[in-house]
Amino acid sequence: MRRALIAGNWKMNLDRAEAVALAAAIAERSGAAQEVDLAVFPPSVYLDAVRDAVRGSRLAYGAQNMCHQPNGAFTGEISAAMLVDLGCRYVILGHSERRHILGETNAEVNQKTIAALAAGLVPIVCVGELLAEREAGRTGEVIRQQFDGSLAGLSAEQTARLVIAYEPVWAIGTGKVATPQQAEAVHMDLRKILKDRYNATIADGVRILYGGSVKASNAAELLTQPNVDGALVGGASLKADEFLGIAAGVSRK
Ligand code: PGA
Repeated sequence: MRRALIAGNWKMNLDRAEAVALAAAIAERSGAAQEVDLAVFPPSVYLDAVRDAVRGSRLAYGAQNMCHQPNGAFTGEISAAMLVDLGCRYVILGHSERRHILGETNAEVNQKTIAALAAGLVPIVCVGELLAEREAGRTGEVIRQQFDGSLAGLSAEQTARLVIAYEPVWAIGTGKVATPQQAEAVHMDLRKILKDRYNATIADGVRILYGGSVKASNAAELLTQPNVDGALVGGASLKADEFLGIAAGVSRK
């Protein structure tokens, strides 16, 4: 039985006071969603403030990115150990904005995933096709390449500890959500890839989130798909009511 995870990616938004207020508002009401894991991903400079704001609640938090190296001369970077030090449980890796705007490669996502797991973080590894790739019928192939590249060399034990997020790039921040059938088809493919590479136990256990224009009004129909185990939410995670409304969609399963 996979426990649903609703993850809020705040991206490069909010100031410190707004981040604290949002985290506190979600934390305060997080007790209502007992059967769902909840996590928020503020800008890294606000992680300490968010830690204080959610203390004592069941709201977890994590970072939007990290460095693949443990320490050293990597100006501007943040290590996995630093995130652990701040109380992070999760880290988002290979988000499409990092892949397509900042040029992150599968090989880099792979190194980061290995480093995050070694530090005890739960990586949320993102994959997803561009609109042109979907229209060319290449969705399966692209997802497969990203999966193989980003998760190269991982043992079954390592893979069992991570989360995968399917985020079609054409659905991110566009208001154009994938249909439940489109999402479910890719999630099923990903689970089959997991089964072929490892075994049925790993495939059944790994959580696969959907991301791309999820909001409270469309969450329930996505989250009731058998292979959709939660959501990675951008824009709608910046409002406590919307975010918690998405989590409420899980209990209707
Ligand atoms: P969105 O972003 O919900 O604003 O489409 C999703 C994401 O980037 O994770």
